Amino acid sequence: MKVEKIAFPQRFLWGAATAAFQVEGATGVDGRTDSIWDTFCRIPGAVVGGDNGEPAADHYRRFEQDVRMMADLGLGAYRFSIAWPRVRPDGGAVNQAGLDFYQRLVDTLLEHGIAPWPTLYHWDLPQKLEDAGGWAARDTAFRFADYAATAVEALGDRITTWTTMNEPWCSAFLGYAAGIHAPGRAEPEAAVAAVHHLLLGHGLAAEAIRAANSHTRVGITLNMYPIIPADPAAPGDQDVARRLDGLQQRIFLDPLFRGEYPADVVEDLEPFGFAANVRDGDLGVISAPIDMLGVNYYTEHYVSASPNGASSAASPWVGVDQLSFPRRDFPLTDMGWEVRPDGLTSVLLRLHEQYPRVPLYITENGAAFRDELDSDSAILDVDRTSYIESHLRAAHDAIEAGVDLRGYFCWSLLDNFEWAEGYAKRFGIVHVDYETQVRTPKMSARWFSQVARDNALVAVP
Ligand code: FCB
Repeated sequence: MKVEKIAFPQRFLWGAATAAFQVEGATGVDGRTDSIWDTFCRIPGAVVGGDNGEPAADHYRRFEQDVRMMADLGLGAYRFSIAWPRVRPDGGAVNQAGLDFYQRLVDTLLEHGIAPWPTLYHWDLPQKLEDAGGWAARDTAFRFADYAATAVEALGDRITTWTTMNEPWCSAFLGYAAGIHAPGRAEPEAAVAAVHHLLLGHGLAAEAIRAANSHTRVGITLNMYPIIPADPAAPGDQDVARRLDGLQQRIFLDPLFRGEYPADVVEDLEPFGFAANVRDGDLGVISAPIDMLGVNYYTEHYVSASPNGASSAASPWVGVDQLSFPRRDFPLTDMGWEVRPDGLTSVLLRLHEQYPRVPLYITENGAAFRDELDSDSAILDVDRTSYIESHLRAAHDAIEAGVDLRGYFCWSLLDNFEWAEGYAKRFGIVHVDYETQVRTPKMSARWFSQVARDNALVAVP
């Protein structure tokens, strides 16, 4: 019998991820004020089931137990986000009580030998700043840098890697164009302004972080996926793929790594006044070298100029979802997303081949499936386990091809508030009973724990 062993590089980081609004709960305590997500959840019909940030996984109160569980699982790192409305409520003065929570969390992680891996912005803009224009307003980028400086001053001595933003595409396009995420605006001009101001905020925050602590590493996390034309020979499909790839990927990657926006995207966005947002010097701030790039990967998109016979005359800013459709031949997760592990290899290779090389980390990957407790209170989430396994193999393929991939965080440690889908979609490797807040590691958690300990996938055929 031959045991198959796929070993990962030495010091490969194994972790799990969450985000503040999705897990913390305790939205009204210790001086926290509303974020755009608190407000958005109050709009009837905005979130499935009328769900909101309470109770989430009550992580604010149960973090010690959660850290112990991570240690039991053998995780090397915990990716969490810091809530801006706790640390600088309303985007204003520093709130010590809010900072204290993250001090306790970081200290507890370190006591358990787990590297704290914070993200400064995972979508919870203080509502007061939205009232002043939100990410469509240039000033928000400067407020973000102030908040980053506060966080680094308080925690910087214990953090080795900071992530400025999580998936700015979602903040800009889902929040300000499609209107299906907070703040729920459907204003294309605001969305394209938000793209630039999020990137500027990243650059200014990175400067502030480095000024406070020159030894730290700074990066950003982007959501990446291949965009594949349904008919590669059809000019219409090719153009849709180019346009969407421009809006999804290159509009972020090019300024970060090349110091310029892609010319075709600037032209596509001309009717929305994109270029007018960009001032002299901005691109220099945005393109200051970063120390790592986080990649969130879930699926790939198959796009057509006329999906299901609909016209593609849709505005150029419309998100990929409107023009993509699942093929019949691949399994779907509970989100309706195709399971496409080889797309992960492709995005990693693309970064490796087309952009200046920086260490890469998969900062999110995972899947929602319907989990049910069996009679022994166990959850045999075979689908999720095999999803993660196939993506780890795909990540390993990229490493073999030379990609400098240094870690993998599964999304998510805990079942949590899945944005507009509310609590109905479960991504956790640990089940959360929202009534009792009891945590139950699923089969995927046990399996992932073994992979982390072995630093390898070990399969006995
Ligand atoms: C990503 C988000 C994360 C989570 C997963 C499923 O886009 O960053 O918070 O909701 O999707």
